[in-house]
Amino acid sequence: MRKKIAVLISGTGTNLRSILEHIYLPQGLLNDLCEVVVVIGDRPEASPGLQIARSFNINYRSIERKLLKSKRQFEEEIIETINYFTAGKGVDYIVLAGFMSILSAEFVQKYCGKIINIHPADTKDYQGPAGYEWAYRNKLQETKITVHLVDEGVDSGPILAQQSVDLRGINNLEELKARGKSVEHLLYPKVLAQILTEES
Ligand code: GRF
Repeated sequence: MRKKIAVLISGTGTNLRSILEHIYLPQGLLNDLCEVVVVIGDRPEASPGLQIARSFNINYRSIERKLLKSKRQFEEEIIETINYFTAGKGVDYIVLAGFMSILSAEFVQKYCGKIINIHPADTKDYQGPAGYEWAYRNKLQETKITVHLVDEGVDSGPILAQQSVDLRGINNLEELKARGKSVEHLLYPKVLAQILTEES
């Protein structure tokens, strides 16, 4: 049976696009393994990531953190939205794809071992946002994209997979990001496929 996943985003949604392509386009790594029940973004509805969900005919919701009173309310809305789109059954996995809000310990415990994230650096060396900027500033020759389970800390959960990106010959930050993201776009669906295959 196809696993149910929810994808949480904040940014441009390029990882979301890649995941959706691998689920819904022919010969994708995630064909028949899962379905996206809802994409939730913490930015306005018109933001690029949510529009990608729309273009794939996937349910999507904008839940803007800054319009809500508290983080608790924000997370309650996320949980309610997931429950709404699964008729109360919930999802098998929550996939973070550039989701910039830090989830509370309560939220993480509720979905313990079921929240997955992709980070643009080795989580042992660098945690938090702007991992590509960090690699560029420090003139790294190589960085490691990391897919990991989310725990109560920031980018501190168990590592599921890593892939090196060769940064030699990079001329600017944009080039570095493009090189890194092209690795992300294949690594994330690959790791998700592994997890979902092992489970089924
Ligand atoms: C990616 O670099 C990802 O590793 C990080 O946030 C970025 C999201 O990019 N967690 P996009 O929105 O998928 O384009």
